[in-house]
Amino acid sequence: MKVFQKLDEFLDFGWAQISRGKADKKSPARYPTFVTSSGDGFPNARTLVMRSSDRKNNQIEFHTDAASSKMFALKENPRAGIHIWLPKVQLQIQMDVVVEVKVGDITIPTWRNVPTNSRVAYGTTPSPGNVIETPLAYDHAPDQKRFAVLVCDIQSIQLLLLGANHIRAYYKKKNNWQGEWLSP
Ligand SMILES: Cc1cc2nc3c(=O)[nH]c(=O)nc-3n(C[C@H](O)[C@H](O)[C@H](O)COP(=O)(O)O)c2cc1C
Repeated sequence: MKVFQKLDEFLDFGWAQISRGKADKKSPARYPTFVTSSGDGFPNARTLVMRSSDRKNNQIEFHTDAASSKMFALKENPRAGIHIWLPKVQLQIQMDVVVEVKVGDITIPTWRNVPTNSRVAYGTTPSPGNVIETPLAYDHAPDQKRFAVLVCDIQSIQLLLLGANHIRAYYKKKNNWQGEWLSP
């Protein structure tokens, strides 16, 4: 295991792993857990495919059905959590993000790049999470109006690297990503 002595090198390592989420379909970074808060006080966690990451702008992007329940949660509270565990490199990544939800015509250029067979994920009837009588009592009809792009503006990144000696660090946007070591 690499022992990082410098905060910026550790953050570079974290970002290299985040970036693999888009580049490497086999990387667990492609399937982060996306956590929203809800009115009943229970957090809601679910897997989403990371569609892109952009270190320069501190953003990562997800796509979802505009009628799914996470959309209601994000309307109430656009703050969300992202969690990634990378077993090969023994790294946990936690991020706090503020989510900008894009729906409607603004998503058309992105929608054009969604493979045709993937578009059915946006437009299920009844909407995701509704009770149905039997397991397959639903229909798919791709609908660009049901396509939502979640642009996540990263506020903080926490890294925990397991090894003979664990290493943990916390980086915040408001501190210009300077970072500080934390006791693991
Ligand atoms: C491997 C995997 C990848 C998934 N990718 C997405 C995705 O990219 N977008 C999405 O909306 N749901 C995705 N889902 C389904 C979500 O986990 C979730 O069930 C769905 O979005 C409804 O969530 P909600 O009712 O909490 O809004 C994925 C599920 C799995 C298991």
